[in-house]
This record gives sequence, C-alpha cells and structure tokens, in this order.
Amino acid sequence: MDELVALCKRRGFIFQSGDIYGGLQGVYDFGPLGVELKNNIKRSWWEAMVYDNDNIEGLDSSILTNPLVLKYSGHEETFSDPMVDCKECKSRFREDQLKNGKCDRCGSDNLTEPRPFNLMFKTSVGPIEDEKNYAYLRPETAQQIFTNFKNIIDSTSQSLPFGIAQIGKAFRNEITPRNFIFRVREFEQMELEYFVKPGDDEDAHDIWVQKRLDWWDQQGVPIDNVELYNVPREELAHYSKKTIDLMYKFPHGNEELEGIANRADFDLGSHSKKQSELNIKSSVSKNKDSNSKLAIQDEGGDWMVPFVIEPSAGVERGFLAILNEAFTIEDLPEGKQRTVLKLKPHLSPIKIAVIPLKKNNEEMVSHANVLIKELKELRIGRVVLENTGNIGKSYRKHDEIGTPICMTIDFETLNDGSVTIRDRDSMEQSRIDSSSLKELIIHKIKL
Ligand code: GAP
Repeated sequence: MDELVALCKRRGFIFQSGDIYGGLQGVYDFGPLGVELKNNIKRSWWEAMVYDNDNIEGLDSSILTNPLVLKYSGHEETFSDPMVDCKECKSRFREDQLKNGKCDRCGSDNLTEPRPFNLMFKTSVGPIEDEKNYAYLRPETAQQIFTNFKNIIDSTSQSLPFGIAQIGKAFRNEITPRNFIFRVREFEQMELEYFVKPGDDEDAHDIWVQKRLDWWDQQGVPIDNVELYNVPREELAHYSKKTIDLMYKFPHGNEELEGIANRADFDLGSHSKKQSELNIKSSVSKNKDSNSKLAIQDEGGDWMVPFVIEPSAGVERGFLAILNEAFTIEDLPEGKQRTVLKLKPHLSPIKIAVIPLKKNNEEMVSHANVLIKELKELRIGRVVLENTGNIGKSYRKHDEIGTPICMTIDFETLNDGSVTIRDRDSMEQSRIDSSSLKELIIHKIKL
C-alpha cells in the first residue's frame, strides 16, 4: 500500500484534501492523472450498463436529500455503526473492527459499551438554521433512483425487467476512515437498480453477479482474484433479502469491492403511500407522507411493486483494486528494475506519448505536434508531447503512469512519416507506416 500511495502522490493521481492545512481525514482529491483514470472507470461502467442495454436508463439525481426519503428508506433509524470509546486514551472506534476487543491505539480493553452512531451527514438548507430546515447528503445514490421510479416509467417506454443506473457522490461519516481511499467519508458509487417481477429476482441476482465479475475482469481485476461472499442473515443491511459481496484482496486485506443485493420490494414499497389504500400487492409500506404509487402494472392491469437487484460498486475501491493489479515492479537486465502500471489501455490516463528524438529539432517537434492534433481527433483520450529529448527517461515516466503507447519521431519520420511504437508491457518496438498508424492505435486502445 505504501508504494501505491507514494506513486499516487508523486505522479499526480491522488492528494490528501486540504493538504496545506494538514488535510481532512477520510477525504481525498484526484489529481491530473487520477481524474482521468477515475473518469475512464466510470465511462467503462456507464457503457457496459446504459449503452450496452436498451432496457437500462441513466439518472443524475441530487446529492441533497429530503429527510423524508431517508426516513422511509430506514436510514434515519438503522444506518449506523456500533461506536466505542477507549476510556484510557479517548480514541474512538467501530466495535466490529477492533482486534480482540482491544483499543487499536493503546491496547487497553477498558472500553465503553457500543452505541449506534448514524453515518449520515446532515446540513441546513436555506438561510434559517433550525430543526426543520435540514437535509442529508445522500449516503447512497440508490434512494433517489427509487423516488424517481415513477418519473422514469412515465417518461420512457420501459417495462419489466428494466434498470436505472447512476454514478455519483455519496457521503458517510465513517467512524474510522482508513486504508487510503478504501474507506473514506466522501466517495462515488456506481449503482444499478434492476427491477424485475417478484419471483424472477433470484435468477436475475445470479445473472448480475456473473455480469459484474466479467466487468471487473475486463478492467484488469481477474475473476480468480475476486471471492464471492454470501452475506449471512445477521450481517445483511436492513433492506436486503440476500447480498453477495465481491471480495478482493486489497493491499491491507480481503474486503468488499462491490455488493450485489436483492432488495426485494423494500424500497419502492417503503416509499409508496400506504399500499393497502392504493391496492398494491406488497406489505412493506407504513408511509403517510408520500403521494406516490411506486408500482407498475402487469399484463393483466394489476398493480405490482417490482423486486430490485442492485449491483453497487465504489469508484474509489475500484480505482484501488485496478491500481493494485496493474502495479508491477519488473527486473531488467544488468540488475536494473522498472515500475510499470499495466493498466488496461482503455483505462490509462494518457493513451499516447509522442516523443521527438531531439528536443530542439524544430522539424521533429512540429511534426510531432501535427501528429498529436490528428491523434486527438480519434477521441481516444489524452495524447501528450514529451519533449525532453531523453527517450529513456520518457519511457520510465510513462511506464510508471501506465501509458500504453510511446511513439518516437526521428529522422526517418521526417522522410516517410513512419514512427517507432514502443509497447509498454512487452517493451517491444516496431516501425509503423503512417498509413496503418491510426487503425493500429484504435485497435490497441479501445476495449
Ligand atoms: N446502495 C447500496 C450500498 O450503498 P454498500 O455496501 O453500503 O451498499 C456499496 O456500498 C459500495 O460502495 C461498497 O461495495 C463500496 O465499494 C462502496 N463504499 C461504501 N462505503 C464506502 C466508503 N466509506 N468509502 C469508499 N467506498 C465505500
């Protein structure tokens, strides 16, 4: 982990937020390369969900959330972790994360009884700060998907089964944020709510577990390195009928990368006004504050509350797993080593570095700039000029940040337009004719 953290800071992937004032615990900023990798992960997820499936719609809902949403979702009452204080050194911990029931800092077992600590951030809304004018920062993106269920049904032609996908920030006031970006207070989720007929939920759950494993595999997190954990009943979230967690061996231990839950009709049911009044087949709701009927008509015209399968992945945890898999230190001849990030090319922050052989050779630099302009038109991501005149140093830098292609402009290029392409992983170099260059690039970069 230390090596990854150092690389992230040195190369501009991730910085501690508010660094110059001593930071803010559990909050990070993504630098020039980090934002590219993060955006590429999110794009890949969005394409796999929304563009590849005609029955999945996208949504970008608000972060500020009406408290009633989180009252009826059960979060006000139950979204908490057990907190204990050490009476000796006054540190505060999550009881379920203590080793042998002892204080992590001083080792004392003189601890308070655990008490629930609600993880939601509350904020005041409008100019008057009082008990009535408050909202929550959403603790999961999912709830606004449920509250928009009717809006989306009414504005699209979707019928069951169909899904709503959303990527966005979520906030949790974690008692002990730790392990770099693994457990943080501000993070992003990529969540799908996939609505099915009751009875079709268990098969859909199995299908989504497999689909998500396949997706992680395509991002460079091999299926063999992910374990399935069937969450025992006593550990299930309040809304879940069944959850399969995808567990990944992070540098600090085997932990949850993504959860895939069968939330049954808990959420839509809970947000609907008393369902008996609305004649809906579900028994969850005790809601008096909503006017909604979050239900759908079956073929016979009867109203039903669909069940929902929810694959929910954290972008930061994905980022960490992907970096961890890609991070490689390789032995080279003559006792040398190189650090290389073997990222899947579609995720690499920079796709191509164009390197003129001579720094001050005007012809080479201007040829490189013309080529860069053409390559940018391919819309494959960032293409940069590396004008140091030091090929070896440029290779080392771009290996370390995962650039899949380095392209050298030399004297031959000025004659016939051909370039030398160096492959990041094999380090093999090949001479490529200008006529086949673009096709080769697209082939190498696109997923
Ligand atoms: N809507 C379901 C839900 O929020 P969750 O298991 O609490 O379920 C889903 O969270 C995913 O969000 C987790 O698998 C993890 O990847 C990510 N996540 C949750 N809490 C996090 C935190 N404090 N820091 C970073 N990622 C987090």
